[in-house]
Amino acid sequence: VLAGTPVTVDTTKPGPQISRHIFGQFAEHLGTGIYDGIWVGEDSPIPNTRGIRNDVVAALKEIKVPNIRWPGGCYADDYHWHNGIGPKDKRPSTVNYLWGRVAESNHFGTHEFMDFIDQIDSEAYMSGNVGSGTVQEMSDWLEYMTADPAISSVARERVANGHPAPFKVPFFGVGNESWGCGGSMTPEHYANVYKTYATFARNYDNAQQLPNGDYDPNGMKRIASGANVDDYKWTEVMMEASTKQIFSWSIDGLSLHYYSGFDQWPPHYSAQDFDEPAYTHVIRSAYKMEELVSKHSAIMDKYDPQKKVALVVDEWGTWHTPAPGSHPRFLHQQNSQRDAIVAAVTINIFTRHAERVRMANVAQMINVLQAMILTQGDKMVVTPTYHVFKLYVPFQDATFLPVTADAGTFTIDGITLPRLDVAAAKGKDGKIYVSLTNVDPKAPVEVDLNALGFSAKTARGETLYAPEIDSINTFDKPDTVKPRPIAAKASGGKLSLKLAPESVTVVVLE
Ligand code: AHR
Repeated sequence: VLAGTPVTVDTTKPGPQISRHIFGQFAEHLGTGIYDGIWVGEDSPIPNTRGIRNDVVAALKEIKVPNIRWPGGCYADDYHWHNGIGPKDKRPSTVNYLWGRVAESNHFGTHEFMDFIDQIDSEAYMSGNVGSGTVQEMSDWLEYMTADPAISSVARERVANGHPAPFKVPFFGVGNESWGCGGSMTPEHYANVYKTYATFARNYDNAQQLPNGDYDPNGMKRIASGANVDDYKWTEVMMEASTKQIFSWSIDGLSLHYYSGFDQWPPHYSAQDFDEPAYTHVIRSAYKMEELVSKHSAIMDKYDPQKKVALVVDEWGTWHTPAPGSHPRFLHQQNSQRDAIVAAVTINIFTRHAERVRMANVAQMINVLQAMILTQGDKMVVTPTYHVFKLYVPFQDATFLPVTADAGTFTIDGITLPRLDVAAAKGKDGKIYVSLTNVDPKAPVEVDLNALGFSAKTARGETLYAPEIDSINTFDKPDTVKPRPIAAKASGGKLSLKLAPESVTVVVLE
């Protein structure tokens, strides 16, 4: 036991705002992420509102999902939006080629997604089809969603399909992984393709247009497909292109995709029943996010010192081996306390880069990869990762505060990692929130918490720890990993907290 590691939060030196959008989610037409996970249909015996599961909506409202990326992923570049509107019995059945070559009913389309967004009070991050679509198809989708029916017959189709008011589209992705499943392009080629698509990726909502017709900086953000992991050349080329922006197009965000535990294909770490070395290897891979974000940001700083272009990490999370017995292309995996630690250290990295990383999307929300929620028929369970997102709700749009903490390191299987990972913020309610992750799976850490410029008398909050290194929640045992109250002891002007091994704790100072 390390006694009394000093942790100092400096409330006198507030940093940038931590955008709530770094807590975004990702929902792709993949496996049971949409069908079963969100959509059960109006006639289902599973309680639903207009076909959308009530239990899932209630759980997601608790974590205040700021935005959801949809419909992919790779699927976005296979998706033709017109298949997903109009009467359901008239919608075509198409083949979800990449994710199992299974039937796609198209019953969950634009209107159903927007209804879901409304039900959970979130915002839409639509992913447009560049790879197999056309400029006109993308442009028409935006006109369909956002135009005034008084002047657009495409928008009148939307009205006929039951939605007179324009849909809100604050974020629009122009292609996905355009270096791979989205079209196998070179960065130079994509930069040119992007300019054309982005020029016609218009939001027709008048509220998004300045009176002089210029691009409204508060209007729809266009997000360019970005680098795979450490493809720094991709970022270089796209940022160079961003310096030539004119009024008709913009790069408001550049994406980055990185998965933890995914150091070779096929992924080889099991999501459950693993040992300490496997734990440590996956956590080490999560820490690679720091290097990636730093290096991509440095390139972005070179071209965009004012940080106008956001780094949007719109796919991150763990990618483990598929759950035994599941379809290998459904990417269905269990979620353990290790995933909770990955989530906490990754979110902490994003908060330290809050000025540049202004949006991120964990992959994926339900039943796929590092999920918040697992469902099967009428059963639903929330995962350890869900609990981390819930603990971090006060960090949404909070102000970053610098922290010093050094509890040393631990070594397992030749890998040395920091024992403690801390992030702090001043919440919108003016309170000081501190997140403390004990990364060490073996030893507790005792900390003495101190906030400069704030006289804290007590700290209370919740801690997420697990009985075993690989503890999971199941439909039968849904509460194995769940947050429990924790309070600090005040002594000698310090607040003492004991953090269990492999735990995530968020406290509010009072
Ligand atoms: O999240 C699963 C897949 O991973 C996405 O469809 C794709 O963009 C990435 O390769």
